[in-house]
Amino acid sequence: MSDRAGHWDNVYAGRRSEDLGWHQPSIATLDLVYEHTMPSSSVIDVGGGDSRLVDALVSRGHADITILDLSRVALDRGQARLGEAAAAVSWVEADVLTWTPPRTWDLWHDRAVFHFLTEAEDRRTYIAAAERAIAPGGILIVATFGPDGPETCAGLPVVRYGTDTLVAAFADGHEPLWAGELPPSQRTEGDQRAFVAAVFRRRSVSSATRQN
Ligand SMILES: C[S@@+](CC[C@H](N)C(=O)[O-])C[C@H]1O[C@@H](n2cnc3c(N)ncnc32)[C@H](O)[C@@H]1O
Repeated sequence: MSDRAGHWDNVYAGRRSEDLGWHQPSIATLDLVYEHTMPSSSVIDVGGGDSRLVDALVSRGHADITILDLSRVALDRGQARLGEAAAAVSWVEADVLTWTPPRTWDLWHDRAVFHFLTEAEDRRTYIAAAERAIAPGGILIVATFGPDGPETCAGLPVVRYGTDTLVAAFADGHEPLWAGELPPSQRTEGDQRAFVAAVFRRRSVSSATRQN
């Protein structure tokens, strides 16, 4: 197990999901996901092991859902929560920075993973994985802490983004469609986690191809 996976397993193992700072009983990006998909659309939620997004997608009738997370504990929790419905979901235990996408999806969703990538090389690796994993013309939704969000989460430093810098981070291989603030996840007074999100359409030609 990598240090990163071990860190996240420990974060989850010590606390109830409801007590984790980023927990949202209903996901703030859900309307964006619905706007850009139909139930027939394939969706991958990166870092979604214990997120409630999958519950909503299953209820909506999505038949092609993949949940990728490096934490076994998070994935086990998500599967246990869904019960029998979990069997219809693909659960992938992988680090998005070392994972090779075996197929493409219509929509890539990430709430609160990309902002942990403090090294430019890791951000390039993540974006390259997304470019490989999203079908040409497919959608990428990424949500990060905003400019007034916390500087750390789960004991790790984060990069806080404005809508402009978030758009710039992905704009090479993806056409920006929307960017804005999300309602904060408000666990307790004084612990508001301000998120921004951006929606992109994957260009049909990747940045790597364009450079050649
Ligand atoms: C802050 S939580 C957000 C969880 C969920 N997306 C949500 O919005 O409730 C970050 C999640 O991403 C996972 N994660 C962190 N780094 C990852 C990586 N490099 N590859 C895959 N999953 C990662 C963690 O295990 C954790 O489940």
